[in-house]
Order: sequence, then structure tokens, then C-alpha cells
Amino acid sequence: MNATTHAPQVVPAVTAGELAITRFTVEHYPGDALGIGTAAPRMSWVYAKPVPADAQILLKLTRRVPGGKPVELETYLPVADSVLVPWQFEPLASREEVYATVQVVSASHQPLGEPSETLHFEAGLLLEHDHVADFVGPSWPEARSDHRHLPLVRTEVGLRDKPVRARLYLSALGLVEAEINGVKVGNDALIPGWTNYEKRVECWTYDVADALTAGRNALGFWLGDGWFRGRIGFDGGYANYYGDNIGVFAQLEVEYADGGTEAFYSNSWDRTWKVALGPIVCSDLCEGERYDARLERAGWSEPGFDDSDWEPVSEVFYNPANIENPETSPVRAHEEHKPLSIARVGETAQGRGVWLVDFGQNCSQRIRLHMRGLAAGETVELHHVEVLEPDGSIATRTLRRGQQHDVYTSNGQDAWWEPRFAMHGFRYAQIEGLPGELTADDIECRVYHSVMDRAGELETSDSLLNRLHANAVWSMRSNFVSIPTDCPQRDERLGWTGDICLFAPTASYLYDVQGFLGSWLKDVRADQIKWGTVPFYVPFVPLGAWAHPQAISTWGDSAVEVPWTLYMDSGDAKVLEDSYDLVRAWIDEVAGYLSDDGVWDRRPDFVLGQLGDWLDPAAPPDDPTQAMTEKELVATAFYYRSCVQAQAIAGILGRDDDAERFAELRDRVCAGFLARFTNLDGTMSSDTQCAYALAIAFGLLDGEPVRLIKAGNRLAELVRLSGGRVSTGFAGTPFVLPALSMTGHDKEAYDLLTSTECPSWLYQVKMGATTTWERWDSMREDGTLNPGGMTSFNHYALGSVAEWMHARIGGLEAIEPGWKRFRVSPRVGGGIDHASTSHVTPYGKAAVDWKVAGDVLELTVTVPVGTTAIVEIPDYESRELGAGEHRLEFHR
Ligand code: BGC
Repeated sequence: MNATTHAPQVVPAVTAGELAITRFTVEHYPGDALGIGTAAPRMSWVYAKPVPADAQILLKLTRRVPGGKPVELETYLPVADSVLVPWQFEPLASREEVYATVQVVSASHQPLGEPSETLHFEAGLLLEHDHVADFVGPSWPEARSDHRHLPLVRTEVGLRDKPVRARLYLSALGLVEAEINGVKVGNDALIPGWTNYEKRVECWTYDVADALTAGRNALGFWLGDGWFRGRIGFDGGYANYYGDNIGVFAQLEVEYADGGTEAFYSNSWDRTWKVALGPIVCSDLCEGERYDARLERAGWSEPGFDDSDWEPVSEVFYNPANIENPETSPVRAHEEHKPLSIARVGETAQGRGVWLVDFGQNCSQRIRLHMRGLAAGETVELHHVEVLEPDGSIATRTLRRGQQHDVYTSNGQDAWWEPRFAMHGFRYAQIEGLPGELTADDIECRVYHSVMDRAGELETSDSLLNRLHANAVWSMRSNFVSIPTDCPQRDERLGWTGDICLFAPTASYLYDVQGFLGSWLKDVRADQIKWGTVPFYVPFVPLGAWAHPQAISTWGDSAVEVPWTLYMDSGDAKVLEDSYDLVRAWIDEVAGYLSDDGVWDRRPDFVLGQLGDWLDPAAPPDDPTQAMTEKELVATAFYYRSCVQAQAIAGILGRDDDAERFAELRDRVCAGFLARFTNLDGTMSSDTQCAYALAIAFGLLDGEPVRLIKAGNRLAELVRLSGGRVSTGFAGTPFVLPALSMTGHDKEAYDLLTSTECPSWLYQVKMGATTTWERWDSMREDGTLNPGGMTSFNHYALGSVAEWMHARIGGLEAIEPGWKRFRVSPRVGGGIDHASTSHVTPYGKAAVDWKVAGDVLELTVTVPVGTTAIVEIPDYESRELGAGEHRLEFHR
């Protein structure tokens, strides 16, 4: 057999005007960025075509501190470096802004292409003492219970002219939405987001020049409880965890055309910042929001409003050293969902309609509803659920305390209303109490999640698989709301470390998550220091049986897996440097729990023990830890992988002593694993798909080639014996298909993937899922819901199969950090005759498109400039491809 290359790629001679730069970014921000947290930001750009080795990059920039003169600078850089190129100039000052372009030029500095689009970025408040504003909030004694009536804060400022430049630096203890002169600032939600507030809170920067005018201007702030003092979590939850008092931090800085500057700070001492109760009677992220329009204060965020009956604010102390510039992007409204159907299903006691609205897609979203025809005091209620009970009623049991129930009370005026400080995970809404008929014209429904750039796509000729992939994307979007959560609907929504440990590689296939997860890792480290281990979820709040963090395999291994995944995707060693203490502390901690033979079987000593292959489908609904695979096996396998990664990380960072120590540990753990859990005939002490999958995928059998083959054969046999049904829980699921492919069993991998019997991925799809479920059978075949108290329809963990789909159906997989070298190895099977995938690497978009035509596999591969693709098709010799688009044919 041999491969023939059609139309071998020819790199055309380079002529002036052709060498375009297609992408120009700073750090890991998507596009222009205000309020960045570093004085020496790195920049990256992407070449559309190969550039001659002796060409150069002309980097031109204009930098300016507010009130100062613009300074123009330029420098020439080698073309070979295009990713995270170090800052070439004096460090930026706080607030300093930069407009930059890059352009390819010849060795003699003649342009070889157009300059890139201009990139605009700006330093945030970099120094502790730049934070002059205080956090301010209610000055009356507030109830210390939940469901507090929420305040509004306002002030007015006089400007001598319309400013040419204006920034609002905004943060809160609690949640905040700002308005200037009656108009909302930005389109973000749930600002400042959830961080470990004891250690840090994010301060967001907004360009508000357009909103301001000469003369009086009003600033208004809605305040919410959010994660800061709202009720967090399950088993009753925990309220007021970070503090009892909420407050807004607002610093408005303006610059006039003549270069003069002026600043205004939220404070409690000048008596111009005032507070009063507003129309939000209470709001809980999970339970929902109650709004009484009769309490609205018309014009409160406009100038000239009479606030003489408002009280001066109180200061809420917060250490300014803990105010940070975000590395991540805010939660924001994205596209809208229109109702698929609106059905009148009943009547209220007042004879008003009760409607069931199906939005067709489960996700984190909020309804904006037209409140019309209501008399003052009349209410409209909205219930949000993921699924319906078999009798067609809304399924609220699975939400537990998080009932997602909004109540709007009218003031008799026509209005559009959306909750501000609650978020809902739903597909269906029950809307009660509007007069007349409810139509789609009365409803807008907006999707919310943190802003991230899409990184990868996948499409196949199989519509069920496409839906499965889309479900993984939707579960990711639903749960990437400020922090990576387990689920977006019930009274939980926590940053479970195990879930993201298993899903991080898939997440980075789907979106650019460098900023998002990098930011969360800071909180993992902060909690590790505070609690002495990597907690079950981060930010950690003591809840129920989970109140005392213990080192748990897989969950704790996120400390190593997440930084490693980010590094492999971006090639950015800074994430490893930033996470190094986290990595090392986890490895060292668990080393102390190993038995002499290197097996992790001595801790934790807490009520649930290790979680093992959590939610193994063989476990009873009310006891997800009763998996078939020994917990010590799972724990030792994951810890082995962490040691492998930690050893590599230490090596990359030049920490040679640690690297040596981790290597010894790795070998000891491997030896212990082999001795305790594997047999010479290739079988394992736990004869389960999970056990073989972990041993193979983590490389524990790499030194035992015969056992490796036998283990692969046994895994394939187990799949055949199960009739193609999945038998793994959270821990095993991401690794079963990779392990089958690694040992030459693609057919069994496809059998598992394409099964529609329960438990399987496509069973969920067949049952109408639009997201990935927490349990294989969250909904049973007869439409009843799993009786377990933990039954979500939107957990990303089992969607980790999308990683294999990108790597083995699409065929794209990084083999060197930052995709410098990547593998193109699609496996034809599962009845699929066409697939295409792409991934935005740091060097540009890589893509694979294949189709089977008769006996021929036709492959088109796009290789970004600066990278190399290794094409590996089973039974063919592998081949290397350089930049460009290549067509290859493989005759079978
Ligand atoms: C969460 C999981 C989490 C688990 C920990 C559940 O309640 O929803 O996804 O990892 O608890 O065991």
C-alpha cells in the first residue's frame, strides 16, 4: 500500500503585498483588551503564508499615559518568533494604552505585506495605591439571613467638558451592574465574577467616554448578593461566607481634550455617594429573583434625580492589595433563543394563563419578558427547568433548593424585564400570570457564559454524532460561567475539581480557555494554601459531608492536569511557572499517602473515601461511589499520570532536583501499580473497562509491551461482551476510546461510541438530549427521571469523549506544546464517510477534512505556518507535512 500525494503543495514565490498577518493578540485575551494586569505584555501574531527566513517583523506602536503625549516606537524582530513574543520596551505604567501593528518586511526593511489590524490594549490599575475608591454599600443594619432586599447606589459628578477618554474601574463585594445617565455600562453580567474573595477580587475596566457629557452626570449601581454573601451550594448551603456586607468599587477617570484629567471615587466620606433600597426584593443565583416594579425609582441613574431621602453609603473594608486585573474575560450575553413552542397548559387562580415555553436548547440563559397589561401589584412568575416529567409537567425536584423561580410584580406600566443577579440553567420555562395570550414577540431569551474564542470545530457525516458533539459544546458553554462548574441549574454550581480535570483537554479543543482556566488556577492555589490540599471544589466553601477538604484522586489531580493541558495547547510555559507551587505541593502531599510499594491506599479518611470511578453505571443511583473498579487502582493510576506530568513540568522549568525526585516517585508508583493491580497474563485485579483504560492511556504498561497488547485485547473483549455499552463513570470515560485506539481496537471504540443502548453517549442523544447529562441514565427509557438526588442534565464530564472525537474522528492532536508539531491521524470507522475538523493553534488554523470515496481515503490537511503535521494513517508509512494545504489519497 502506498500514499499518493496529489497537487503537492508548492510555496509560491513571495512578492510584496502578499504577506498578511491574520491574527494579532496580546497575552491570552480575545482581541482588544482594557485593564490588563501586566506591565510587560507578550504579543502574538499569525502568518497567513510562509515567510522567508530572512524577513523581519516591524512592530510599531503608539503608547500614551492619560494626560501625557503619545510616544511612537518601533522595533524589528525576527520572523521566527510569533507566539507570546516578550515585551520589547519600557514597562507600561498603570492606565497606559497601546495601539500596535505588526508587518512583515524584507531583510532590507521593505514591506512584504500590509500591516496587521491595529491592536488596542491598556494596562489596568497595576499598583495597590492606584485603587483610591472604596467599596461602599448600605449604611442601615441589614438582616443577616438570606433573601435580603437589595440596594441601589448612586452619585453625580460634574464634568467641565465632554471627556475624550473615560474609564470606569468597577468591582464589587457581591455583584454589580453599573448605569451612567440611565444607560447600562457594557453588556456583562455577574460582575466581578467568583474568585476566592478572601484572596482576590477582579476589577473590570470599561470605556465609558460615550456615555458621559459636559455638566452633570449620574452614576448608578445595582448591587446583588451573588457568591459573596448569597447562599452557596447544597445540603442547605452556606450564606454570608465571604462577608455580611456588599459594596461597589467604582473609580471613574476622565481626560479632557486639553489633556486635563479628573477622577471620582466611590467613598463614604464626601457624602455624595448615596444608597437606598431598590426594586430587587431579593435575588439568589440559584433560587431566582423577585422584583417589585412599584419600588422602582424613576430616573435614579440620571442627573438631577432627587436623592435627598437616600442615605450616605457605608464603607465595606477590603484590602486594596487584593484587587486584581482580570486575566480572563467577563460573563456576557451571547445569542438569543426564540421559543420553539408556546403551549397554554393551565390557568392561575385569577384566570390568567399558564404557559409552557420550549426554547429547544438547555443551557445557561435568562428570559427577558414583556410585562404588559398588568395592574399595579399583579405578578408574573417564571419557573425554569431542564426537562419535563413524563406527564408533561415541569421537573423541579432535580433542582433541589435551586428552584430557579423568578417573580415580577408590576407597577401597572408596560416593561421588559430580565433578572440581574440570578442565572438559570434550563430549556423549558413555565410562565404564569400574564393577561391575554403569550406570543414569541413577548419573549427574548439570551445565552450567558464567559467570553471565550471558539478554538475547534468538528463535523461528521453522522448526524447523531454531530448532536453528541454539539451537546458537549453546550454543556461547556453552560458551565463556563465565571468558573468551571459541575452544573448550571441545581443548588450546587461549584467548581468541582474532578469534573474539570477530566474535561480540560476537551475544553481546550473547543474554546481558548487559557485565560479562563488560568484565572481559576489562581484560586486553586489559594485554596490549597488555605486548606492544606486541593479541595473537592474551588473556590471552596465548607458544605455538608464535604466540609473538610481531603486529598481525593482525580479531583486533586486537576492541580497538575489543568496547567499541563493549558501548556500543551498554548506552549506557554508561564502557566507552568504560575502553577508550579500548586503542582509540587500536590505531588508532595500525596507522596505522603502512598504505601511502601507506591500504591495510594492510605488516605483519605473521610466519609466517602476515594470517589473512584464516580457514577459508574453499575453503582446504585443513591451511592455513586460503589463503582466496580478498585478505588486504589484509580487513585494510583491518576497519581502516576500526575507524576509523569509534574516531572515534565519540572524539567521544562529547569527545576532539576524536583524533576529527578518526581521521576523516582513516578517509577515507584508505576512498579507498585503493576505489582498490585496487573497480572502477568495481561488481566487486571479489577477486570473492568475503567481499569484497562487507565493503565493503557496513562502509559502504565508502556514498559511491558506484551502486557500492553493483552490488556488492549481484554479491554476490547470487555467492550464486545458488554454489547457495546459503556461501563465507566467519570474517571474511566475519557480514556476508554483512547486506550482502544492506542492498542489497535478502533472498531470497538466506534462500537462504544455509536451504541444507542443505555448506557451510552448516543442513548442520551436518542432521548432528545441537547446537553451532556450527569448520569448515563439521567432520563430513563420510559421518560422517567433517575430517582437519585443528584440528577443533572447538564454536566460536561461525560462529554469528555469529544476529545477522542477531535483526535480520532477529525484527526487532529497536538504532540508538541502549542501545536508546533501535531498528529493527523483520523480513523475511518463507525459508518462515517466524511469528517472535517479544525483547531485554532497559536500559529493559525490547522484543519483536516476527509472523505471515503470507494476504496480511497481522501485527506485534505491545512498546516499553519510555523508548524509541522505528522500524518499517521494505520497501515501506511507516516509522513511529515509543512505549512500549506495538502491533498493526499490513501488507497485501501
Ligand atoms: C457534582 C459532581 C462532583 C461530585 C463529587 C456532585 O454533586 O455534581 O459533578 O464531581 O459531586 O463527587
